[in-house]
Amino acid sequence: MPESEILRATLSSEPSCHVVVLGNAKGGTGKSTTALHLIVALLRQGFTVGSLDLDARQGTLTRYVNNRRRYADRHGLDLPTPDHRSVTPGPPEEEARAFTEAISTGLGQCQYLVIDTPGTDNGLSRLGHSFADTLVTPLNDSFVDLDLFADLDPDTLEIRAPSQYADMVFEQRKRKMVRQRRSIDWVVMRNRLSHVDARNKREMGDILDRLAPRIGFRIAPGFGERVIFRELFLKGLTLLDLREAELEGGFTMSHVAARQEVRALIDAIGLAAPAAAATG
Ligand SMILES: Nc1ncnc2c1ncn2[C@@H]1O[C@H](COP(=O)(O)OP(=O)(O)OP(=O)(O)O)[C@@H](O)[C@H]1O
Ligand SMILES: [Mg+2]
Repeated sequence: MPESEILRATLSSEPSCHVVVLGNAKGGTGKSTTALHLIVALLRQGFTVGSLDLDARQGTLTRYVNNRRRYADRHGLDLPTPDHRSVTPGPPEEEARAFTEAISTGLGQCQYLVIDTPGTDNGLSRLGHSFADTLVTPLNDSFVDLDLFADLDPDTLEIRAPSQYADMVFEQRKRKMVRQRRSIDWVVMRNRLSHVDARNKREMGDILDRLAPRIGFRIAPGFGERVIFRELFLKGLTLLDLREAELEGGFTMSHVAARQEVRALIDAIGLAAPAAAATG
């Protein structure tokens, strides 16, 4: 089907901000949780940040941001909050129109735009990926998750070929290159790392090290499996808001370690470099 006017307009529009996309074709890997942590980290560094939920059917990031606003109001706190929108799934032309409107008006004027995508491969997710300057993919330590990256030999764990999600990112990189003459910096972070399964952790690490140069991503340190990530959602808080947060039982060493993990991820992604963002 030839591209319509509106799709062509979308493909030629370029936001002036640095676009960070959270993506993985697998559900429940930590995309929305990581999205809010990156948003708050950037806001706390003084950047203007827009956020866009392309998974509006589930709406986790939208609810996370709303919870945050409500929590700040209720407790009289000055919590930094992004300029947030969502795009509702619909016919491709309507999705493209809503996406274009979001990135060409308010959100696109921010220094950073953080886009959350669904855990399935659909048109909106592809569109979002094709605008990424930085793509952050949280990955759980499981061969089920890895299967979307590469087809592995079950006996030798050799990589036979890239698979679904790696192919999708490859396609969106080409799309971005044609439109914006630059590629996507793809960062894979391991999430929910367990302290017990050392062998699986090592095997995953080895495979990812071999896979990274082959399909073109960097590996960043991720987060451990920590209950605090689940608890903060209802309050719309992140580990970077610990001073404001009222946590049952107070701050523990685990919270401090978790916050260090968030900071290490942000450093590794390299978003703090002002040169990466527009100055407007
Ligand atoms: N490091 C972690 N430790 C413990 N729980 C975590 C961690 N990261 C995320 N979670 C929890 O895992 C669940 C899934 O996280 P999240 O909603 O961020 O994933 P997602 O990739 O956005 O999912 P979906 O694909 O359904 O949109 C949530 O309950 C979240 O609180
Ligand atoms: Mg999500």
